[in-house]
Amino acid sequence: MHENYSFAVLTMSDKGSRGEREDTSGAYLQERLRKEGYILQSYQVIADNKQQIIDSLLDLVDMQKISLIVTTGGTGVSPSDITPEAMTQVIEKEIPGMAEAMRHASLAKTSRAMLSRGKVGIRKESLIINLPGSLKAVKENLEVVLPVIPHALEKILGGESDCGVV
Ligand code: MTE
Repeated sequence: MHENYSFAVLTMSDKGSRGEREDTSGAYLQERLRKEGYILQSYQVIADNKQQIIDSLLDLVDMQKISLIVTTGGTGVSPSDITPEAMTQVIEKEIPGMAEAMRHASLAKTSRAMLSRGKVGIRKESLIINLPGSLKAVKENLEVVLPVIPHALEKILGGESDCGVV
């Protein structure tokens, strides 16, 4: 069991932000990560607006200092999808392997997995993970990275545990 890291769920959805769509993906993420022992610190539904996404991520990292930030939505190829472009402005280091692992595992479920442009990266002492928007995609993608998140967070904080184990 890892130490109890704080987490935030940030949902990117134009319809959700107007109250026109229930955020089942955000609700699932809260429940699933709580079950893993993470402590919910923030939950927001915002529009697919680049500056708003940047501002929200900066607040969660720089002001609230939340360890794990999981986003859902806006990773695809439709005109409004802008999450990865906002991420580029926020993260200091990218972890391409985590995003590629999710896409790779997801390809076994649907060839549409290659349409997600989600990123994973680090800013300061926070890990930010982009997941696609649908509940199905959130469930499938999250399970791929869940086992590695505690070690990633420990390393981001400068931990010196042995990487060669497991
Ligand atoms: N990944 C998994 N595992 N399962 C899915 O059903 N849906 C895909 C993809 N990744 C999917 C998936 C689809 S249809 C799209 S369009 C992209 O994620 C981007 O989704 P987003 O625009 O909602 O972020």
